Amino acid sequence: MRLKDCHNFHDFRRLARRRLPGPIFDYIDGGADDEVTMAENTRAFDRCDLLPSVLRGVSEVDMSVMVMGQKLDMPVYCSPTALQRLFHHQGERAVAAAAEKFGTMFGVSSLGTVSLEELRKRHRNPQLYQFYFHRDRGLNMAMMQHAKEAGVEVMMLTVDSITGGNRERDLRTGFSIPFRLTLGGMIQFAIKPMWGINYVTHERFRLPQLDAHVDMSGGTSSIGAYFTEMLDPSMTWDDVTRMVRDWNGHFCLKGVMTVEDALRAAEIGCTGIVLSNHGGRQLDGSRAPMDQLAEIVDAVGDRLDVMMDSGIQRGTHVLKALSLGAKAVGIGRWYLYPLAAAGQAGVERALGLLRAEIERDMKLMGVTRIDELGRHNLRYRAEAGSLPSAQGTAA
Ligand code: FNR
Ligand code: LAC
Repeated sequence: MRLKDCHNFHDFRRLARRRLPGPIFDYIDGGADDEVTMAENTRAFDRCDLLPSVLRGVSEVDMSVMVMGQKLDMPVYCSPTALQRLFHHQGERAVAAAAEKFGTMFGVSSLGTVSLEELRKRHRNPQLYQFYFHRDRGLNMAMMQHAKEAGVEVMMLTVDSITGGNRERDLRTGFSIPFRLTLGGMIQFAIKPMWGINYVTHERFRLPQLDAHVDMSGGTSSIGAYFTEMLDPSMTWDDVTRMVRDWNGHFCLKGVMTVEDALRAAEIGCTGIVLSNHGGRQLDGSRAPMDQLAEIVDAVGDRLDVMMDSGIQRGTHVLKALSLGAKAVGIGRWYLYPLAAAGQAGVERALGLLRAEIERDMKLMGVTRIDELGRHNLRYRAEAGSLPSAQGTAA
């Protein structure tokens, strides 16, 4: 199987699985506890159906959107993810460059393996910086400062990771940064020698957002331990209010799921929120963002930009979320498997396929602009329970 044989999410996932050592594949692929939420995230899109309009003259389609002050040529952005250097030696560089080609935004994680400054210098497309709130206040201040000085457009604070999710696949394999593997995990690395050769013959693994403040040379740390030992579980709305004020620019919270919290985010001056359960990697049993979207858009959609991520695998998923009122959607694994499979060429192919799907689906829906999509384009099935606000007329 080669890159040109990849036509959808599942093909890329298969190719990534072939290329990556098992522990790394499982880190990307896995979720928390029984992975119920992870599966439900995608299933949620099947509980409602699109209602196309016909004979609308759709030869020219414009899928661009404005979100948090940024113009995106397509309504999908690359959500920030950690440790990309492990998945492919090009890491974040591949994702940023591919996103630039498609005129969309990319996120850089606090646990990113390329510095936010380097990426900001090299690329012109909007960049968001994903912030984890550390116990070390000096580190928090320095990270904000770096992002500000580099000219990062959007600050994104992740609020669903106050402690590490229970990722049992990682416990089994011993996945950690850099590495401390169980015997089974080591065998998995031994049977994927190409990955190993590639890993050691390229640039050293680093965490440049953190390494001036944290000594990563003194051993390994699991992702769970990073969350538990380094992040500050005492973080409250007061801390975030101060951050929003200090940042004084576009600021969004990633992982808001209730109307009450969404209202609070608007009150403290956030310009965006992302409904997300971290791709099912944190609280298993939490609701799928797609199921919660209509309620949140109705409550705060006129005060800030509502986005969502988790579970997106198809152009039709994107159109369903936009029909409910999301301004844009984030993808995680949809670009990570392609990154692992083929670096920048993989991410470009994935974004190209997704863009082609969205364009085709918009034509089939009878819309030429994203703002023509609305609640009138979506019906929930009777057996899915009633979602009154999703059944109404145009948003
Ligand atoms: C993530 N995600 C994530 N989120 C975040 O705020 N900071 C981070 O460092 C990471 N790291 C990360 C690593 C990996 C391997 C994955 C799969 C995900 C979550 C990510 O931004 C996004 O919310 C989810 O990936 C969305 O779900 P899907 O698209 O993967 O189903
Ligand atoms: C994850 C992190 C690092 O989901 O956010 O693995």
